[in-house]
Amino acid sequence: MTTRTLPPAAYDRLTAAVARDTGDRRTAALWSHAAALVRHAHVHGLAPADERPPGPDGLLKSLESLAGCHPALAPLADPAVLPLWEQPLGSAAWNAIEEFWDRHPALEDGRRVDGYALGDAYQLLSDEARKGRALCQTPPWVARLLLRLSLEPAIEEWGPADVRMIDPACGTGHIAVAAFHMARVPPIRGRRSAPVGHGPRAVERALAAVSGVDLDAYAAALTAYRLLACSASVLGVSLDQVPASWPVNVAAADSLLDRTEPLLAAGAYHACVANPPYITPKDPAVRDQVRAAYPQVAAGKYSLALPFTALMLEHLAVPGGFVAQLTANSFMKREFGKRYITDFLPRFDARWIIDTSGAYIPGHGTPTCILVHRARPPVGDTVTVIRGNRGEPHVPEDPARGLVWEAIEDAVDNRLAWDRFQAGADLARRSGDTTT
Ligand SMILES: C[S@@+](CC[C@H](N)C(=O)[O-])C[C@H]1O[C@@H](n2cnc3c(N)ncnc32)[C@H](O)[C@@H]1O
Repeated sequence: MTTRTLPPAAYDRLTAAVARDTGDRRTAALWSHAAALVRHAHVHGLAPADERPPGPDGLLKSLESLAGCHPALAPLADPAVLPLWEQPLGSAAWNAIEEFWDRHPALEDGRRVDGYALGDAYQLLSDEARKGRALCQTPPWVARLLLRLSLEPAIEEWGPADVRMIDPACGTGHIAVAAFHMARVPPIRGRRSAPVGHGPRAVERALAAVSGVDLDAYAAALTAYRLLACSASVLGVSLDQVPASWPVNVAAADSLLDRTEPLLAAGAYHACVANPPYITPKDPAVRDQVRAAYPQVAAGKYSLALPFTALMLEHLAVPGGFVAQLTANSFMKREFGKRYITDFLPRFDARWIIDTSGAYIPGHGTPTCILVHRARPPVGDTVTVIRGNRGEPHVPEDPARGLVWEAIEDAVDNRLAWDRFQAGADLARRSGDTTT
């Protein structure tokens, strides 16, 4: 699914118009986006009934009401996350926001409440998140491929009832939401019977299986909202009826440096999946702190993506856990990647190296690749490599159906089918069955 949006310049104009009132673009983007989030909750019947006055005061009341629905939504009424209570909005700015969302082509497809369009809208509205923290949405079709190569085999190996995954740079939650869907209805392979039930227990289990952490407290709150919106929608209830005891494992923290956040505990995850930031830290103090914490990969003008690989492979994953990332391929071409390639990565079990530099991934101007490793020393002598031959001849109308992306998916399908055939044949040979 690719969400429909207005042209990027339209979001920029809205932020600029509202900033004339708020005095800064960050608060303007947050006012604009919070209005979309509240609309989303009301349009989809997820918000509890509330008596709200019209205008910005009504928006603040609705946010307070949503924040009371579940402990994980409390940040929506926290001025430290959304500084709206301290910076009231005038009527001209409010009207601009209302008019904008009135003509937005799809706050969401009528049948789905996953909030993909909400996530995309935050990136488009907030240049502070885009430029300062490298927020760049991971399209759902890329998220699904990453999860097929990591969470799906982890579910097969550890079982759907026990499996746990994390995205330590979860942004607005595109990967976390796709993981929630996969954990709720795990793919069934071969002759194994469906191992898990459906209904409320499956939703609770899927929530427990998925974790996300991001530096951006509002993006993290949006991820929590989206996971709860999916849960409420599957159950056919409003957000306040999702049990408060059900876990929503999302936190705002610095994944690279925070060692007190419980979600960043060592050796807790069977799958770590991320589209980490590719930027070089701008603040010299942070750059040095990260360099000191990750000397094995943070060399020269390193990209933050490298310490994220080390975080996932050396800290977050269980032994043998799957680590999948869509990352910039700059480490292959620049000096800072030398130690990473020659000393660091060879210590781990590489499973897939996929050249996605020719694929058209909206917003990702930087050439990318997908790396999948297991957190253990190399096993066997096979690494599956999908090499790129050429780029898209033109920008595809639907990027999920681009020629290069479809060729990559076909190659993955063929390889997985072959691996399954081999595994079945080996099993039959070992059990003496000659009919397979
Ligand atoms: C490429 S975006 C990920 C987008 C996400 N997959 C999505 O689709 O919404 C990178 C994210 O990393 C986050 N980030 C940057 N530095 C971080 C850090 N030290 N700890 C946690 N998150 C960080 C940014 O805030 C941003 O949301």
